[in-house]
Amino acid sequence: MFTPQGPSLRELAVQGLSSVEHGYDLLADAFDATPFRTSDRLLTAVTRTLEPLGPFDSGLDVCCGTGAGLGVLRAVCAGRVTGVDFSTGMLGRARDAHPGADLVRADALALPFAPVFDLAVSFGAFGHFLPDAQRTLFGQVHASLRPGGTFAFPLPAPPPVGSRLYWILWGFDAAMRVRNAVWRPPFVMYYRTFRLADVRGRLREAGFDVSLTPVETLGRREDGSPRCRLVVARKPQERTA
Ligand SMILES: C[S@@+](CC[C@H](N)C(=O)[O-])C[C@H]1O[C@@H](n2cnc3c(N)ncnc32)[C@H](O)[C@@H]1O
Repeated sequence: MFTPQGPSLRELAVQGLSSVEHGYDLLADAFDATPFRTSDRLLTAVTRTLEPLGPFDSGLDVCCGTGAGLGVLRAVCAGRVTGVDFSTGMLGRARDAHPGADLVRADALALPFAPVFDLAVSFGAFGHFLPDAQRTLFGQVHASLRPGGTFAFPLPAPPPVGSRLYWILWGFDAAMRVRNAVWRPPFVMYYRTFRLADVRGRLREAGFDVSLTPVETLGRREDGSPRCRLVVARKPQERTA
């Protein structure tokens, strides 16, 4: 929910008419008071789900923003924790909140890392990547993980077709398509371009073995399926001759 500490409607409109990078620079100071910041409830639930999959050594939060996922990494990683984002403003807030983390300004589509990380996570940012860009993103994360490393992220179940949330997200994406047809620079942010079956396929194309773990603390839907799954993509170990 938006709060009085969050951005005004005008500030959000200016952000939405900018590029993604500049838009987040403008929003950075108020970002944690918006619903775009991943909720502590989801972060805690993901931490609980990741714990039994460890132990993990060094961790990377891809598109870290103000650092929501860095707390998860600090909870489950014994080694160094790094956040990467292309918004200087967001990285500044992350630096304030997580002084012990390494914070790197880079495009997630061209990550500057050797294959050293044991665990990579990402929260709330996949809507910024259209399907072709998702392929590049997954390839870049794969290249940043050591053999045997894990890329994990939560994927909430889609809202039932026809529900209120379904139409809100449908309306948001439609408005975004119109905005991007008539305005430059584009602001890529879509809610309905990140579906489980496609995502699984793209992760496999990037070289990952993929499994799904229910995020049990977030509960189940009426049909018994989990409200949220943790996608666990593992980079295979190198074969020994
Ligand atoms: C909605 S925010 C999510 C921030 C944080 N992960 C969270 O869950 O609260 C999306 C973040 O992705 C970053 N981002 C989007 N596209 C990016 C790209 N191509 N490279 C690096 N960062 C990117 C933005 O700068 C922004 O900080």
